[in-house]
Amino acid sequence: MSGETEEIEEKTGRDFPLPEYLLPWFYENKRDLPWRKSKDAYAVWVSEIMLQQTRVEAAKEHYIRFMRELPTVFDLAACDDEKLMKLWEGLGYYSRARNLKKCAVQVVNEYGGVFPRDKSALLKLPGIGEYTAGAVSSIAYDEKNPAVDGNVLRVCARAEGDFTPIDDPKRRKALTEKLAAVYPDEAGDYTQSLMELGALVCLPENPKCGACPLRGHCVAEREGWQARLPVMPPKAEKKREKLAVFLVRTPSGAALRKRPAKGVLAGMWEFPNVPFGGLSAAEKEAEGEFLRAALREFGVENYSLQGKKEHTHVFTHLVWDMTAYILDTADMPAALQVFPLGKIRTELSIASAFRWCLDLL
Ligand code: ADE
Ligand code: SF4
Repeated sequence: MSGETEEIEEKTGRDFPLPEYLLPWFYENKRDLPWRKSKDAYAVWVSEIMLQQTRVEAAKEHYIRFMRELPTVFDLAACDDEKLMKLWEGLGYYSRARNLKKCAVQVVNEYGGVFPRDKSALLKLPGIGEYTAGAVSSIAYDEKNPAVDGNVLRVCARAEGDFTPIDDPKRRKALTEKLAAVYPDEAGDYTQSLMELGALVCLPENPKCGACPLRGHCVAEREGWQARLPVMPPKAEKKREKLAVFLVRTPSGAALRKRPAKGVLAGMWEFPNVPFGGLSAAEKEAEGEFLRAALREFGVENYSLQGKKEHTHVFTHLVWDMTAYILDTADMPAALQVFPLGKIRTELSIASAFRWCLDLL
C-alpha cells in the first residue's frame, strides 16, 4: 500500500455532517422554495420527483402550476394524459410523469389517497426508489430515513474524506446506514439541510468552505481535498444518432406523429423523422432521392423543399444530430396527423428534442 493511500485511510471518516452542525445553519439559511410551504406527502412527493432530474430554478414554476392544476392525489389520479404531459412539458424524462400518475392511482386505490409513511410500503409504489422513499418519508412524516442524492453524496464524501467513487452502490448503502444512525427527530429538516448545503455552500466547483457550518468538522477542508472529492465515475461515451426530420406544412397545418409507447420520449408528439446515419457518399449525393422515398412512406408525394436546418439535441446518454427539411405540400399525408399551428404550439406536448422545429413552421 502506498504511503498516500495509508494517509487517506487514516483520515477518512474522522468527521461526519452531524445534525447539530447542520440544523442551526439550515434554519437561518434555507431558501424559501414553493415545496417548503407544505408537509403534505403528495406535495412533497411531486416536488421530489420533479427535482430528480431538474434544477431547482427550472422546477419552481412547473411545480407551482402543477399543484394549482392538480392540488391533490385524487386530481392527479383522474387527470387525462394529454393534460399531464402538458403540465410536465419542459421537464423532460416523461416516463416520470407517466409513473407519477400510475403511482397516484395506486395511492388512491390502495391507501385511500394517503401516502404510506413506511419506507418499505413507499418502495413498492411505481417510480419510488430508495431516494424518493427516504425523501418523502422524512420530509413529510419525519421518519428517520436518509435520502441520498448527488448533493448528499458530495457533501458526505468531502466531510468524511471518502474516496469511494460516488456512483458505487456500496457507498450509497453504507452512507445511508451511517446517516440513519444519526438522524434527529427533525428528520425532514435534516434531509433538506444536507441537500441545501450541497446546493448553496458545498458546490461541485469551489465550495464556500469559509461560509460552511461544517468548517472545522470536515476532512476535505482540513486536508485541502475539496477539488479531489467527490471521486467521479468515468464518463460514458454518448451514443450518437443522425435523423432527418420533416416539417411537412400543409394548407391546414403541420404534420406530426406520436412516438411509440416505449423507449426514448415515449408517447409524445414529434415531427416525422427517419434515421439518416450511415449514408454512403453516393447516397448523400442522392439526398433528394432519399428524402423523396422517405416522404412517400408518410404519404407525401408532391412537395417543394423550402429550406433545411441542422440542430443537435443532447440527452443524458444519447445525442441526436438532426437535419430538418422544411417543405410545403398540398397532399394529405396519410400516415401522419395534421394539426393547426396554434394547437401544435399551445395544446400538444411536443417532445423536447423537436421543440426547436416550432420556430421553423
Ligand atoms: N433537491 C431535491 N429535493 C430537494 C428539496 N426538497 N429542496 C431543495 N432541493 C432539492
Ligand atoms: Fe464542503 Fe467545504 Fe463545507 Fe467541507 S467545509 S462540507 S468541503 S463546503
